[in-house]
Amino acid sequence: MKGVVLAGGLGTRLYPLTYATNKHLLPVYDRPMIFYPIKTLTDAGIDEILVVVGGPYSGHFIRVLKNGKGLGVKHLEFAYQQDEGGISDAISLAEDFADKGPVTVILGDNCTDADIKKPVTDFTEGAMIFIKKVNDPQRFGVPTFDKDRKITKITEKPKKPDSDYAVTGLYIYDFTAFNKIKNLKPSARGELEVTDLNNAYLKEGKLSWSKLNGFWSDAGTFDSLFQVNKYWASKKK
Ligand code: G1P
Repeated sequence: MKGVVLAGGLGTRLYPLTYATNKHLLPVYDRPMIFYPIKTLTDAGIDEILVVVGGPYSGHFIRVLKNGKGLGVKHLEFAYQQDEGGISDAISLAEDFADKGPVTVILGDNCTDADIKKPVTDFTEGAMIFIKKVNDPQRFGVPTFDKDRKITKITEKPKKPDSDYAVTGLYIYDFTAFNKIKNLKPSARGELEVTDLNNAYLKEGKLSWSKLNGFWSDAGTFDSLFQVNKYWASKKK
C-alpha cells in the first residue's frame, strides 16, 4: 500500500494566514499541519508517500519535509497540481506513482489520531471511506443511509444534510480510481469532486465504509484550525 497526501489549493478560507505560505504548513500546536496526515500513514505502515502540492508556495514543502526520513518516510515524492482542479484531479496525479496498486489518500489538512492500520492491511479492492459524526455536516461530503445502514449516496456540502456524518478526507482506493476520475465532469464550483469519485464506486457496489475512531477534524477554516490546535496542545501536555 502506498500513500498520497493532498496539499494543494490556495487556502482562501484562511486568508490572510495563507498569503505567506501554504495552508498545510501552518502550525498545529508544535508542528506543521501536514506532519499529522503523514503520521497517520506511517503509523499504518505506509512508508512510500506522494505529496501533491500546488499554489504559489509549493517550494516551501521541500524545506519542511526534506527527504521525509525524519518523519519515517522511506520514499518521498512530490507532484505539482497546476490549477485548483479539485481533489479528484489531485488524486489523478498519483496514477504513475500507484503503479497499478492501491493507495491510501489523505487530505493534508485532516488531523486525526485514528488508527487505520487494520483497514489498510485488510484492503483488497474497491474503495473504503471513513465517516465521522459531526455538528456541522453541511461543510462536508455527507452520506445518506437506507434502513439497513447501507450508504445510498453521498452529497457534497448539502444545504439539508440527510445524516449527521461527514465523509472524512481519508480514503483507500484500488487502481480503478484513475479510470473513474477520467470520466468525471467538473462540479458547479468547477472542480473534479472526490464525492463524485466515491459515488462512482457506490454505483458499482464497490464502496465500503467504516467509522473513524478517535479525534478527527479538518483544519481549513479559522474555527476548525483553532479546534485542532486546542486538541493537539491538550493531548501533548
Ligand atoms: C473536502 C471534500 C469533502 C470532505 C472534506 C473532508 O471538502 O470535498 O467531501 O468531507 O474535504 O475534510 P473541502 O475541504 O474541499 O471543503
